[in-house]
Amino acid sequence: MASDVVFLGGPGAGKGTQAQIFRDHGYRQISTGDLLRDNRARGTELGKRAEGYMQRGELVPDDLIVEMVAKALTDGASVLFDGFPRTIAQARALDELLASRGRGLPHAILFEIDRPLLEERLLGRWTNLRTGRVYHEKFNPPKVAGIDDEDGSELVQREDDKPDIVKRRLDVFEEQTRPLVEYYRKPPASRLVSVDATQPIERVTQQLLEALKIRASSWIAQ
Ligand code: AP5
Repeated sequence: MASDVVFLGGPGAGKGTQAQIFRDHGYRQISTGDLLRDNRARGTELGKRAEGYMQRGELVPDDLIVEMVAKALTDGASVLFDGFPRTIAQARALDELLASRGRGLPHAILFEIDRPLLEERLLGRWTNLRTGRVYHEKFNPPKVAGIDDEDGSELVQREDDKPDIVKRRLDVFEEQTRPLVEYYRKPPASRLVSVDATQPIERVTQQLLEALKIRASSWIAQ
């Protein structure tokens, strides 16, 4: 049975960075932020409805998000959910969706990191909007400033990485997404593991590999 995993953590915690790396470890990435940005770029109805929420740093309504994820979820490889779920309602919907597709309950990995470092990461981030690949001007710079090492695309600063929107996104995380820690921890069996997301990228990858390996047998057994 597929062993699906939720990456849980504040904006800038490194979820997308690690999800890209884990594509090479046999996982498929479903990033709701990337899917929404793609819909906006293509001018779809969903993209138009999501635009205002994203520009303000607010969450897009649950029903739109859950429908989008249900469409993106196909049979097969284990999935890393990046940026989803973000509310208790979304977490319940994901449990039900996976069960209805004959998959087990997902497990969650919490990226632990404090707010000042999240702000520094978001304010220094440069993104390839086509592929979702990210760099950081200080922690993970591209070889040539403003150009993606992989495909030569232009790197830009996301519109929601401006200081006042970053503040709102961090507040929204505390108010609406932080309660998921208890959701995934609750008895009878905790489904949550934490990693220290303040470490350099390679060290976080190592922690994730260990967490996934150690937990794999018990997760698969459930
Ligand atoms: P989304 O795109 O999901 O943004 P986010 O959760 O705010 O996450 P980020 O992409 O900002 O951060 P990340 O954790 O992926 O960090 P990254 O790897 O880039 O959502 C955007 C918007 O869409 C939301 O505000 C909302 O409106 C809407 N939305 C999306 N999903 C939704 C949902 N489920 N429900 C409702 N609305 C939804 O890393 C950040 C930076 O740090 C980079 O520069 C990177 O190079 C650097 N870095 C990463 N790891 C390290 C490290 N270990 N050490 C040093 N630097 C590092």
